[in-house]
Parts: sequence; C-alpha cells; structure tokens
Amino acid sequence: MENSKYHETWSSRTTFLLAAIGAAVGLGNIWRFPYLAGEYGGSAFVLVYILCIVAVGIPILIAELMMGRRGRMSPIGTMTVLAKEAGASRHWRKAGWLAVVTIFLAGTFYYVVASWVLAYVLLAIEGAFAGIDSNGTHDLFTALMNDPLRLALWFAIFMAMTVFVVASGIRDGLERAVKFLMPSLFVLLVIMVAYAAYAGDFVRGWNFLFRFDASKITPPVVLAAIGQAFFTLGIAQAVMITYAAYMPRHVKLPQAALVIAVADLLVAILAALMIFPIVFANGLEPDSGPGLIFETLPIAFGQMPGGRIFASLFFVLVGIAALTSTISGVEPIVSWAEEHHGWRRKPVSMLVGLAIWLVGLASVFSFNIWRGFTPLDMFPAFQDKTMFDIFEYLTVNIMMPLNGLLIALFAGWLMSKTSILDELAIKDGKMFLGFRFLLRFVVPVAIVAIFLFNLTN
Ligand code: ALA
Repeated sequence: MENSKYHETWSSRTTFLLAAIGAAVGLGNIWRFPYLAGEYGGSAFVLVYILCIVAVGIPILIAELMMGRRGRMSPIGTMTVLAKEAGASRHWRKAGWLAVVTIFLAGTFYYVVASWVLAYVLLAIEGAFAGIDSNGTHDLFTALMNDPLRLALWFAIFMAMTVFVVASGIRDGLERAVKFLMPSLFVLLVIMVAYAAYAGDFVRGWNFLFRFDASKITPPVVLAAIGQAFFTLGIAQAVMITYAAYMPRHVKLPQAALVIAVADLLVAILAALMIFPIVFANGLEPDSGPGLIFETLPIAFGQMPGGRIFASLFFVLVGIAALTSTISGVEPIVSWAEEHHGWRRKPVSMLVGLAIWLVGLASVFSFNIWRGFTPLDMFPAFQDKTMFDIFEYLTVNIMMPLNGLLIALFAGWLMSKTSILDELAIKDGKMFLGFRFLLRFVVPVAIVAIFLFNLTN
C-alpha cells in the first residue's frame, strides 16, 4: 500500500530497526528479565523464555509488522483498513482500541518504575551506595517509596522527557533520539559486562543462566516466561504495529522481526551477565525479586572498585533503555490522534503525557498513601493487589495475551493469502505455510492454555 497520508515515515531501514529495537529493549530486559530468571531458577527460565520467543513471540511480531505496514495507520485505523480489505467485521476495529488502551494502562506502571531509575541515577552520582549493606539499600529504597511527592516529581520528569521526544515528530524526535540513545546503550552495556567479568564471579553467573536443569521447569516458570516474551518484545501492545505503519516499503519483514528479536534477547542475556556475576561475587541472593537492581545491586556497587562510576553508568543505561520504550508507548496514542482533523502532535503528546501521569499517580500512591488500597479484592486474581499491581497484572497477564490472540487470529484466519505474501515478499511455499500454521494453531493454543492456567491458579 501507499505511504500514509497522516504520518511521516522512518527515513531508512536502519532507523526503523533502531527505533523498534529501542521499543523492545527496556526495563523488561534489564529490570524484569534478570529478576524473573533469578526467581524462577535461572537456566530453566532462560530456556523456556527463548522457546516462547521463537514459537509465539516472533510469529506475532511478524504479524504485527505485516499488519501495521499494510494498514499504514494507528492500530485503530489499521484494524479498520485491514478488516475492510479482508471483508471481516468492522468490530475488529475494537482490537485496535484494546491495543491502545493496553499501552496506555501499561504506561501507568512502567513509567513509574522508569522514574525510580532516574532517582537512582542521582543517588549513584552522589555516592549514596558507598559501603552500604542490605539494611542500608533497603532503607534507601523504602525512603523513596514512602515519599509520594519525590516519586511524583521524578515521574513528571520522566514523562516530560518522553513527551519532548514524541512531540518533536518521527524524524526530528524519535529518530534523533534513538540514533543517539541506542548506540550509547550498547556501548554502556558492553562496558558494564566487561566490568562484571573483571570484578564479579562471571563463571557462576554464566552457569546460573546456562547450566540447564530440566527439573526446574514448572508451570509457573512457563507462565512467567511467556508473559515476559510478550512484554519484552513489545508485541500485542500497539507499539510494533504503529512503528511498522511508518516503515519504508522495501524493508523485509521476517528479517526485520528476527533482527529485533535477536537484539532484544541479546540485551536481556547481557543484562543478566552484567548483574549476576556482581550479585554472586558479593554473596548476595539472585532471587530478591523486583528489588534486584534497586536493593541488591547497589550493595555490590558500594563494595567494588570504581563502584560509584559504574553504578552511575548502570542506572544511566537502564534509564536510556526505559526512555526508548516509553517513547514507543506514547506514540501509538498520538498516532491515533493525528488521524483526526485538526489534532496536532505537540498538544496531543502533552495531553497524553499528562493523562498517563495523572492515572499513573495511582501507581505512585500504591507504595505510600494508598498502600492498603486493594480495590479489586472481590476477584481472586486481583486479591491484595494495589493499583500498581493491578495495572501490571491486567496489562501483562491479561490484555497483552488477549491482544496477541486477536492478532494471531486475524492474521492467521482472516487476512488473505495474497495480502500476506505481498507484505512479507515471500513465495507461496513452506515458509508461508509454517508461518500460518504457527498463527492459526500454535500461538492461539499456547495463549488459551496460559489464560486457563492463569484463571485457575
Ligand atoms: N518492551 C519493553 C521492555 O522490555 C516494554 O521494557
């Protein structure tokens, strides 16, 4: 199809890939993946996670890229165009809505964690971790969590940075940001892994991640791994379908999806290889959960040579990774607004940022003044969950899999063979059949199985 009449396009294949990798690589890789691997037995989790990426993640990613580029609009506009082209019900438009609402709600917890990272950049630069023990890091983290004003302010700063980039447009904002931020991220990552190899227990970290023990694979491990595959690839949350809408015609989609998935996996593994050697060398536990990078790692930095500099670099790196993802979280909503007569990017970006900030305050307050506020206690799955927990659980465990299911069903059963072959630039052969088989059967069965497991446990 022609270029969009509503949106700019990426200036090249490389900038598209940098932006898409930036969207995929984020807190999911550096905060969530290591702590999940730590909690769910290391190598068992890593193996299942890689399988989930290959069997479920990559097919959905290719489908989203294909649908986005064919529709050339926001997820809502794209679903409308594609449903019409396929002769399917207009109600498919609602799948676009679901994706956009998902990314809005995901923002209300994601940006909050991203803003903790900013607070930690400052703490690291100030040398707050020097000689600190576990009580000390716990007190630092708790002091931050107990201070709604400080949290709200950091959250506002992170939101403002995100809005600034999105408001500047695709080429002047998003492209410029990723061209600078992504290479910086990779350089910092390599420096940090080298540091961990030098100052940490690299062999133990490596074995923890890769010495495989099949007995550790349990249903919760599979569940956590598949949820993480969605989260980290940035699929089923309006992001990839939007970025694909701005993609030049000549980009080959299966290859692009592979590059994005491999880069995302590589960063997750490198992040784990930078964190665990440091954790083990300092006699710390790998299974400390979401606090791993905020409460555990600073103890190690506080004891290591050059700890202050490397702690600062580490949190800057996490901040960069988070920023390229938060940008991709605001863009789909702005993209939808741009398709309306007279709605302009700058004010709309600010409005979206403000809305996420206001709703996200509920997440901020979950750690202090609303700590005991668990409004959905009547539903077993949401029992004892604060607003922060609700936003995370609802988006990652329910809305993203549901979105993924809808994408697989639409692309697998409704899109015509001609459209698929045309968009993927492949011939009618084994590759097409394999792709459609995964979308028609493997992905839906895997997602439904997860849902059932989720609801019954
Ligand atoms: N895909 C983004 C991440 O992993 C949301 O952080």
